[in-house]
Formats: sequence, C-alpha cells, structure tokens
Amino acid sequence: MEARHFFACLIFFAMSSYVAYATDPTQLQDFCVAVNDPNKELFVNGLFCKNPMDAKPEDFFFDGLDKPGFTGNMLRSNVTLVSALQLPGLNTLGISLARIDYAPYGLNPPHTHPRASEILTVMEGTLYVGFVTSNLANGDNKLFAKVLNKGDVFVFPQGLIHFQFNAGKTPAVAIAGLSSQNPGTVTIAKAVFGAEPPISVDVLSKAFQLDEYMVKKLQSQFWMST
Ligand SMILES: *[C@@H]1O[C@H](CO)[C@@H](O)[C@H](O)[C@H]1NC(C)=O
Repeated sequence: MEARHFFACLIFFAMSSYVAYATDPTQLQDFCVAVNDPNKELFVNGLFCKNPMDAKPEDFFFDGLDKPGFTGNMLRSNVTLVSALQLPGLNTLGISLARIDYAPYGLNPPHTHPRASEILTVMEGTLYVGFVTSNLANGDNKLFAKVLNKGDVFVFPQGLIHFQFNAGKTPAVAIAGLSSQNPGTVTIAKAVFGAEPPISVDVLSKAFQLDEYMVKKLQSQFWMST
C-alpha cells in the first residue's frame, strides 16, 4: 500500500471511531429499557437493558411535568430532568427532557452539559438566556444572548456555558429537549468553588485573579447544584 493511502485509511478509521463514540450509542434494536440494579458488578457505557418481552408501557412513561418544581431555594429555580434514570425507556435513544421553573428573578446559573445540545422553549414568562463560545481564534469568548418570551425557542450548543434568568416579575416556565439520555451538568460556580475535596487556593486565586481570602470565602459558601 502506498504511504498516502495508508495514511488516508488511518485517518478514516480514526475519524470513524471518533464519530462512533462522540454521541450516545446508536440503536441496535427497537429499544433497551434500562435496568437499574444497584447490585450489578459490571458497568456498561449506558444502562443494562430489560428483556424486551418483559417491557411494559410504564417503562416508556413519566408523569408530573405539569407540576412546578419547588423554587423556594437560593437560586429561585428548579430543574426537573426526565433522563434515562427517570424514564428507563430512554436508554440508548439519545434524548431527554427537562422542565425548568423560575420564580421572579430566579436563575439557572451558568452551566454546561458535557454530552448534549439543548433546545429550550418558554411556556410562561420572560427569560434572559445566553451561551458563551469556547475560546475563539482571536482569544475571545463571545456571548450570544437574548430575551425570550412565551413561545420563543433558543438553542444552547453542546458543551458550552449557558444560563437562563427570569427577568420578569412573574414566574417563568421552560421546557428543554436535550440530545443525550444522560446529558450531565457541570454547574460552573459549584464545580470550581464547591469541589470536594477543595481545589488548591493557589490554583483558584491565580485562575480567578482573587486574593486568598476571597477564594477561601467562596470555597466556604454553599453552592446549589441544579
Ligand atoms: C425541586 O423541586 C422538587 C419538587 O418540588 C423538590 O423535591 C426539590 O427539592 C427541588 N429542588 C430544589 C433544589 O429546590
């Protein structure tokens, strides 16, 4: 084989394996209702499947998204996630759903979903939403933000830091679709200042241009995860 063909093949295989592992696994059967067995000793990339003969309509069902989540917390927001853990029939399907409630001035704080893009629509109220790009070629991180009203839709690309803030004086409600059965959430402030065990003060004071006192103060704070 000529060298350039060899390299072309190498790149092709490297890329195809990258594509295969970059998203939730592709379906090899109609469905794979998750079995959550705390005693299992093996781990798979996802969840075990129930025998399809034992699957029931309830495996594909979740109720209660009509009910607001409790927003009497410090962020005045609440995310009700319907992922493969709450709805076992979502296993291997690559999607999930969330209802998000915001009291007036409630915030879903800056966070990322390492495994999913998110498409959000406002059902009630007014939200100021946005996401920030990864580091651009010129070194900038660009903010894309907008005020959304009822019926408006916004998309947060996979992995990027994003937020929603209820800018109105009435409660707001949003529904979000996510492109993973297990999107994951990294709440930035909590992950950085609330890590357990704590990240070294030297690291955080340099990274955030804060003095030691301020870093320790932030680390002693309670950080809510969403
Ligand atoms: C979100 O709402 C649910 C249902 O009301 C409640 O059980 C949960 O504690 C709330 N979470 C937070 C962080 O307030």
